[in-house]
Amino acid sequence: MENHSSYKRVFLFFKQFLIKPYSRQFYTSTFLSAISSAVWLYNAYALASIVNFVVAYKPNQSLTPLYTIFIIWFVVICVRHITLFLSRYIGMSTSERAGKDAEVFSIEHLSLLDISWHEKENTGNKLKKIDRASQNIIDGMRLWLGSIIDIIVSVVGSFIIIAHFDANLSGLLAVYLVVYFGIARFTRVRATKAKQIVNIKDEEITGLFFEIISNIKTVKVLGMAKKILGYTKEGVIDYAQKAKKRVYWYQVAGMLRGLWEGFGRIALFIFVIWNIFKGHYEVSFLVLFYGYFSTLTNSIGNFSDVAQEVATYNANIVRLTEMLDEPINIESEKNKVEFPTVWQFITMKNLSFMYGDVPVLQNIDLQIKKGEKVGIVGLSGAGKSTLFKLLLKEYENYDGEILIGETSLKTIKKSSYTKHMAAVLQETEVFNMSLKQNVVLANSNEIDNETLFEQALDIAHVRDFLPKLKDGVETKIGEKGVKLSGGERQRLGIARAVFKQPEILFLDEATSHLDIESEQKIQDSLKKFFKNVTAVVIAHRLSTVKEMDRIIVIEDGKIIEEGTFDELYSKDGRFRDFWDKQKI
Ligand SMILES: Nc1ncnc2c1ncn2[C@@H]1O[C@H](COP(=O)(O)OP(=O)(O)OP(=O)(O)O)[C@@H](O)[C@H]1O
Ligand SMILES: [Mg+2]
Repeated sequence: MENHSSYKRVFLFFKQFLIKPYSRQFYTSTFLSAISSAVWLYNAYALASIVNFVVAYKPNQSLTPLYTIFIIWFVVICVRHITLFLSRYIGMSTSERAGKDAEVFSIEHLSLLDISWHEKENTGNKLKKIDRASQNIIDGMRLWLGSIIDIIVSVVGSFIIIAHFDANLSGLLAVYLVVYFGIARFTRVRATKAKQIVNIKDEEITGLFFEIISNIKTVKVLGMAKKILGYTKEGVIDYAQKAKKRVYWYQVAGMLRGLWEGFGRIALFIFVIWNIFKGHYEVSFLVLFYGYFSTLTNSIGNFSDVAQEVATYNANIVRLTEMLDEPINIESEKNKVEFPTVWQFITMKNLSFMYGDVPVLQNIDLQIKKGEKVGIVGLSGAGKSTLFKLLLKEYENYDGEILIGETSLKTIKKSSYTKHMAAVLQETEVFNMSLKQNVVLANSNEIDNETLFEQALDIAHVRDFLPKLKDGVETKIGEKGVKLSGGERQRLGIARAVFKQPEILFLDEATSHLDIESEQKIQDSLKKFFKNVTAVVIAHRLSTVKEMDRIIVIEDGKIIEEGTFDELYSKDGRFRDFWDKQKI
């Protein structure tokens, strides 16, 4: 954890979001902060000079040196507070901006990662990582301006001033500091490790909370709350134990540092006083030393806290950057080509796919002609949606080939491909925005195309339920579309696909929640609109695919039958079997 490469990663993180994009603000605030710390070193010097003056004062002596000290002190106070204000004002407002930049960047990156990656991590975890690391940019800046610069300037400044008066003393001071930092490091490593363990546990628990809230309906309907909360309670007990260890190390760190600080202070003071007795130092040196020693110990006290915090940021940021460093396999668009302008067939050649080591698709050979409408049927779990995932470029670690014309799908840029196809998936995901935004966001080129929007509403028969919505198409449809029924949500999904005007259309159970009559209406209008579109349609309800040019039957990841409805019906095979059962 405490290794150089991870600190380097953290530095690069700050550089990427803060130092580079906002270099002017960063350096200005750093410079102002250094000035404010440097002038503050004058305090102890002023005090020692005053003592010196007072001790040596003789009646009728000129007071000018004393006045000079006070005037300089006055100026110092003004400079100190004005530069402090400016540096924090500039620095902190910039860091707020940089923190948000980092969040946006992270979300953008996550949106490009493979679905297979997303399936490994739960949403709560991802959000917490992003949230923590970007908050750390803000905290990191506060620390940099509020403490780190001050520590550097004070330690270096005090040390130089003391060394200027007495080299021996500065030697002792150096030993004192080295031991101090040694203790601090020893405890910091342990405290950080303990804290890291607690954070991981914390993420796990938050992840579970998130799942409960986001699946609240299922949790309530099925009465799962008690059992699931039971899991979180176990997690909390574990969390508390781990937190205890973290608290222990934090407190031990404070105690050891405090002890050493106290012992060191006494020893150094004995040394100074002893030297005063021997006539090596003047009395005012005690004041000077006291002043700078206090500055020094305050600063290094802060330093330990800062190092502790930095180590924590380090851990948080590394955890985010692990995510950010996750390569974007599918989306690494370099060397990839545009969607072909001319193509005649989508060809799947000997296509096989496994989830882990479980084979789900086996040796699929299928050629779909441009403009053809193909229906896919099969039992639940047969691999239909998985086939779509491959066709949608969600997974690319399959054997065999998918070709659009002569071009392998793997080599086509995802951004280019998505422009030409649309999909309505088994679960229509909707955003908590207006119904209209949910539709038009699918096609950024046509976002203001009212005619197309109206047409999409007509074809998907969204109009049938518009009167029920308070603000018509401007109605916000709620997180996960909770204000819509299952069938209404599906119609919205279809409207979105229509609005995209795709060349290729994938429908996975896109009308399954609709009654037969509504489905028929949508099928009819879709047929007209998508005359030239190549469509692949998965359906359990066989009437949905009856009119397709061709029907494919998949079982256990293999194609077992294909043909038109009439062919398959008369063949008396698996399809006929399904059909007869659904007719009962
Ligand atoms: N992300 C995944 N990781 C591992 N296994 C998966 C994953 N998604 C699906 N599977 C498994 O792959 C098999 C095929 O699933 P798929 O979703 O393709 O079935 P389907 O034919 O679409 O079924 P349905 O008609 O119920 O939608 C199933 O056994 C399923 O459990
Ligand atoms: Mg499916």
